[in-house]
Amino acid sequence: MAARHVPVPEAPAPVLEVRNLTVHLRAARGVVRAVAGVSLRVAPGEVVGIIGESGCGKSTLLSAIMGLLPPGGRVAAGEVRLAGWDLLRLPERQLRSIRGREVAMIFQDPLTALNPFYPVGWQIEEAMRVHGLWPRRAERRRRVLELMAWVGIPDPARRYHAYPHELSGGMQQRVMIAAALANHPRVLLADEPTTALDATVQAQILDLLERINREQRTAIVLVSHDLRLAGQFCHRIAVMYAGQVVEEGPALQVIESPRHPYTQALLRSLPPLEGERRAALEPIPGSPPDLAAPPPGCPFHPRCPLATDLCRQAAPTLRWAGAVAGAGRTGHRAACHHLPDPAEEAIS
Ligand SMILES: Nc1ncnc2c1ncn2[C@@H]1O[C@H](COP(=O)(O)OP(=O)(O)OP(=O)(O)O)[C@@H](O)[C@H]1O
Ligand code: SF4
Ligand SMILES: [Mg+2]
Repeated sequence: MAARHVPVPEAPAPVLEVRNLTVHLRAARGVVRAVAGVSLRVAPGEVVGIIGESGCGKSTLLSAIMGLLPPGGRVAAGEVRLAGWDLLRLPERQLRSIRGREVAMIFQDPLTALNPFYPVGWQIEEAMRVHGLWPRRAERRRRVLELMAWVGIPDPARRYHAYPHELSGGMQQRVMIAAALANHPRVLLADEPTTALDATVQAQILDLLERINREQRTAIVLVSHDLRLAGQFCHRIAVMYAGQVVEEGPALQVIESPRHPYTQALLRSLPPLEGERRAALEPIPGSPPDLAAPPPGCPFHPRCPLATDLCRQAAPTLRWAGAVAGAGRTGHRAACHHLPDPAEEAIS
């Protein structure tokens, strides 16, 4: 898969826009602020990666966009706009008609998303039927078989009748992708779609997602733990920590010039690349905070080697972190009190 060295040109109107979203989940230990003031813009045809360790709020963010929060979850503040719809304020009936048609989601574990009691082809067809875009059955069936072939399922006419457990993990994931694509959504949300798969199948699924993005101009939001993989696959990256976006920008810039100490630590925690000076991976000490009781100030301060009293007292907000490019900025931002001044850097 080729690296995406060229960011999508200056953003057209976003197809998906999340503004200042805050999500609370009820847990036995109290209210969990799983998403805290997240903003995100995704342009048509753009691939945006959401990266962070376990428990940083990535899945909750996607579930909130889909309007599928778990019981006890609620959006405490913010907006989600999809192609002009104000999703959080739509009546459930209208939201149901948009979900699956305009925005669809693929999950880490296809077996939890697919119904074990129905043939996979039928499940893809059902995703089409509920939205009524292909009312004639014969036409729907033909389209299902085409779609199955397009996502790389061999012998679709036979596989149509297979049950999920009769397929390999990679094939199950392809079925879920076909079901998500059934109605040509503008936006595809992919929550760690390859984590459960071996490396070869992982690469094949990522190639498929890249093809969907390239050939159908579907905007993709990809959740992953792997910053380096996201650097290859995505146009832009948002790094999440403790429910917040702590760094965002063009993928290549975030990978090659990470500004936030958390992003830098995430990169050091990956196996070194050939020719890199460090000898081994350096795990990040400690773990992300309990979001029912996050620390005051910068949420990363208990693990940050650069933390000062200011960090322990005041929460930093996102500010420009990239070099000044021509008349404008490059769109690279980070939330840290001790960022070098990009303007000074550009001059020196
Ligand atoms: N149903 C739930 N009820 C209460 N708290 C929850 C629930 N689901 C998740 N949480 C909490 O919300 C926070 C964010 O969880 P979330 O699953 O969104 O993180 P994540 O970044 O997707 O993690 P992972 O990489 O492990 O999938 C965590 O503190 C988690 O414990
Ligand atoms: S604000 Fe302080 S604690 Fe937080 S990342 Fe920056 S230097 Fe570290
Ligand atoms: Mg998750």
